[in-house]
Amino acid sequence: MVADLVEGFINGRLRPSLGLATGKTMEPVFAELVRRGEQGLSFAGAHAYLLDEYLDLDRGDPCAYRNVVQRLLVGQIDLPPGALHGPNAQAVDVLAECARYEQQVRETSIGLQLLGIGSNGHIAFNEPGSPLDSTTRVVELSERTRADNARFFGDVRSVPTRAITQGVATIGAAAQLVLLACGVHKAEAVARAIEGPVTAAIPASALQLHPDATVVLDSAASSHLTLTAG
Ligand code: GLP
Repeated sequence: MVADLVEGFINGRLRPSLGLATGKTMEPVFAELVRRGEQGLSFAGAHAYLLDEYLDLDRGDPCAYRNVVQRLLVGQIDLPPGALHGPNAQAVDVLAECARYEQQVRETSIGLQLLGIGSNGHIAFNEPGSPLDSTTRVVELSERTRADNARFFGDVRSVPTRAITQGVATIGAAAQLVLLACGVHKAEAVARAIEGPVTAAIPASALQLHPDATVVLDSAASSHLTLTAG
């Protein structure tokens, strides 16, 4: 279903700007897009934008989000070289880099933004407490997020403590948001994001304010929702 939305978006525009998320949840989506690419879906006119990037990793680190997306998606489809954009974690002046990326994302105007959700309700790396009007900036990762993401690094001590992330407001400026969540470990965060108050304590709750937000859940991730009909 998420791949259908992406395919419709890519096919319907001359120069689509697609916002990509990372994380385990996105891996089947990327695999399906690669499969569709092999069957003729072309990304040749598209540009793709990362939500966030770890700081303090080597450029070639396989866990750097740019490298993950390159390996699992971009390197296997016909997206042109140079059409994958993201924050440059190697920049000497990181604050200037945040401002540069914020401006780039705003200028391109993301048409469709894919999102996951952290078990603590984060989107991108906007941890609980991130202001709803936040923009691209350097953030400290919470212990929970570092523990959740330790599975990619082997152990929690290897998970960076800092990242550059698009802000909640940056993400909210995209024309369409599609959040995907799977598994019971996401159920509490999903319920608070969808049915709770809009609050910086659950950054994903900002989706309630967006005019075109879709949430795609498996039954485990939806198991704490109470307002469903039927
Ligand atoms: C990371 C990313 C988020 C993503 C989250 C969920 O923290 N920065 O953008 O939504 O992981 O990841 P997973 O799908 O692995 O649970």
